[in-house]
Amino acid sequence: MPILFRNDFQGRLPRVNEPHVLKTAGILLERAGMSGAELSVVLVGDREIAELNKTWRGRSGPTNVLAFSLTEGEDVAMAGNLLGDLVISVETAAREARIDGISVHRRLDILLVHGFLHLLGYDHEKSDPEAERMFRKEKELLQDLTGKRREEMIRLAVNVDHVATLREARGISEPDPVLAAGLCELAGAEGIVVHLREDRRHIQDRDVRLLRQTVKTKLNLEMGAAKEIIEFALELKPDMVTLVPEKRKELTTEGGLNVAGQKKKLKGVIARMSKAGIPVSLFIDPDSKQIQASSKVGATFVEIHTGRYSDAASEEEMEQEFQLIAAAAEEAYEAGLRVNAGHGLNYVNTSRIAALETIEELSIGHAIMARAIFVGLDQAVREMLALMM
Ligand code: PXP
Repeated sequence: MPILFRNDFQGRLPRVNEPHVLKTAGILLERAGMSGAELSVVLVGDREIAELNKTWRGRSGPTNVLAFSLTEGEDVAMAGNLLGDLVISVETAAREARIDGISVHRRLDILLVHGFLHLLGYDHEKSDPEAERMFRKEKELLQDLTGKRREEMIRLAVNVDHVATLREARGISEPDPVLAAGLCELAGAEGIVVHLREDRRHIQDRDVRLLRQTVKTKLNLEMGAAKEIIEFALELKPDMVTLVPEKRKELTTEGGLNVAGQKKKLKGVIARMSKAGIPVSLFIDPDSKQIQASSKVGATFVEIHTGRYSDAASEEEMEQEFQLIAAAAEEAYEAGLRVNAGHGLNYVNTSRIAALETIEELSIGHAIMARAIFVGLDQAVREMLALMM
């Protein structure tokens, strides 16, 4: 029996699908060409892992995974076939899964892969090149586990700003973007996006505060990196923020953020958001320089600007822009960023973008609201979802 498995977390929540963990561990041994070796996997809670963390690493508090190698130094002779022990805190894994918007079992897979690579001698703390080598191997193994780059269907996040635009045109209380957001979710949208502009031309503070309480999927607050809005976001704690460039006179967001040109500022904003547990997405043009800069400043996501693709005046231009988006999404994915896309997507041009496996989520507003006027919001969202399958 190559996997020595023990679940000391049993009886507590979340419940772990033990065969899943065993299967993952088995696949890892097989992929490493070590099917004959033995690997010990122990699931614990935060209290137990904190004790081990203190005893063996002198660090206080819980951690997600600890890897105890038996194939290094003096232990080699004693090790026999045993590669080492992986101890994983299910409670920390569950917390991290919530932050990343993934399942607990996917998070457990990620931690198993990470710990397993440590047992094989990979060490991201040694140097930058070593961290890069480990990161690439991790990615390869995680892809191997699912056979796919994207595990689930691409998600639709609906931008409801235009409902507020209509309301503000009359200066009264309807139509209400909060109600619209609920209808979008009922129709199958998996996220709601609102852009709180400095000039408050459409979405108001009240909308975002209510949405924070009512959105059941994921609230993505789109915003410029202005001090006042940053403080608002830190207090409100949306599920994520998307930083965009904002100009007073523009009709809608025009270009992507120049991340490369303001690395220091963005790094500071991202650090503050991360401390508050808010993942940050940077809205960027499909441009390698911006992708590399986004990775350097610590963004979790990038949202690739699809505006030039959507506005293309000829098929040839559209094809060129599509290729730029596909290449940018690939580069961002390979750099370890999570990838969203949006702007100008409609019922004609969305399918092709949705088919890119490197992209997790599309953010669409105008086209859905325009169609909703004629067919209703529920149907408009459902028709868009059908195009994304
Ligand atoms: N993504 C970002 C960053 C945006 O600024 C917008 C427009 O508010 C969208 C997506 C949605 O664009 P559209 O309304 O054209 O679908």
